[in-house]
Amino acid sequence: MLGWDHRMTADGVFVTGATGFIGRHLVLGLLERGFRVFALTRGANGMQAGDRLIRVLQSAYGRPLPEQMLARLQPLDGDLVKPDLGLRQHVVEQLAAEVGQIFHCAGDTRFFPKDRAAYRAIHLDGPLHILRAIDRGQGVRFHHVSTAYVAGRRNGTAFEDELAVGQSFRNPYERVKLEAEQTIRSACESRGIGLTIFRPSIVIADPRVPNTNWSDPISTRFAGFARLCGAYRRTVGRIRALRPSLRVRGSGESALNVVPITYVIEAMLAIAANGRISPGTFHLVDPTPPRNHELLDRITEVLGLRGLEPFEHRTLPIEGASLLERVVENLLRPYQDYFFESPIFDDHHARRILNGVVEPRSATAIEFLARAADTSRATEFTPIHASVPQKGDRSLEHAGDHFP
Ligand SMILES: NC(=O)c1ccc[n+]([C@@H]2O[C@H](COP(=O)([O-])OP(=O)(O)OC[C@H]3O[C@@H](n4cnc5c(N)ncnc54)[C@H](OP(=O)(O)O)[C@@H]3O)[C@@H](O)[C@H]2O)c1
Repeated sequence: MLGWDHRMTADGVFVTGATGFIGRHLVLGLLERGFRVFALTRGANGMQAGDRLIRVLQSAYGRPLPEQMLARLQPLDGDLVKPDLGLRQHVVEQLAAEVGQIFHCAGDTRFFPKDRAAYRAIHLDGPLHILRAIDRGQGVRFHHVSTAYVAGRRNGTAFEDELAVGQSFRNPYERVKLEAEQTIRSACESRGIGLTIFRPSIVIADPRVPNTNWSDPISTRFAGFARLCGAYRRTVGRIRALRPSLRVRGSGESALNVVPITYVIEAMLAIAANGRISPGTFHLVDPTPPRNHELLDRITEVLGLRGLEPFEHRTLPIEGASLLERVVENLLRPYQDYFFESPIFDDHHARRILNGVVEPRSATAIEFLARAADTSRATEFTPIHASVPQKGDRSLEHAGDHFP
């Protein structure tokens, strides 16, 4: 592991989106490494912000948080869209005095928001409110979680130092994430603040971690798909005459880029720790993502299932679709566009810092689906078997409505 930058260990760290999928794991990683964490959190479902945060963190941690970690955690009840983040003046003063690093993980991760103005306020005004509240010229550093899919709709290679290159977008989410990068870059530049932009691809639970919580929206859907395949194998798939194939919409040659949460967190912390070279933009991606047909082949192999194949048409209805094919299509529909195109995400900048420090994670999607398919052989299928929402875990209330 690289040596920690002295400023990072000396200072407090301010984190937004701490109840979210990435933020909760980041907060745990920071606390485990001895940092003091100020976590901006909203109350929800009748729970106070602090209680809710601790509940979400404990669910991700898998057991009660040790006292020494809790002692370094300061939940702050606030909201990104409010001036001064809705915090009291003395709290703002404390942050300005004690925070040396900001990790901005909050965002509205829906593809198609209903209220565009509120959506833009979160993504574009939110980071400016953070900077105005905390930056007093004390040399704070800003780490922003963007997405590799600011690359938009394209095949070919997307580079870390590219941003707006005339691309089109699949949805308002990709566009607003690009605009947020632009807004944050120019705000940090004019304030003389060191900026790190992390661009993960599609983040899922780590299939290697035993008893891991697969309850984030994306993992829930992918695991649900693998388990549906398992259910099919145990039921209709046994009867040869009934149904020869299970067609899944997408191009067999495209590759979905998926990375496990553990890689994303380790990479973010390692890059942030390296203060001298961390300003910049970093793709946190699978360097060699498997093609969709490889994913389907792997499930076929694990389950001993025949007839799992891509349906290559984006718009045509799947002719004579079985009930199961319709269920699978519904389950994966939010990601459908991502099953057709596949940019290659060049991650040279990230690798330059991470080589020998954090191993790249390739073929994660295969491991994940194989693990989920494998568990489906032993267990009875329930549609979102993996999802055990905890009270206060708002992100689970609309599981699947969230995107990279
Ligand atoms: N997950 C992925 O696959 C992925 C991939 C690439 C990039 N990203 C990016 O990574 C970041 C985190 O993603 P995620 O998957 O962790 O998202 P998530 O699970 O949906 O969590 C979003 C977080 O943002 C918080 N938030 C939203 N609006 C807020 C507001 N007005 N004030 C304060 N907090 C607010 C939410 O708080 P509440 O709990 O109170 O709603 C929650 O903690 C996002 O910027 C996303 O674009 C995610």
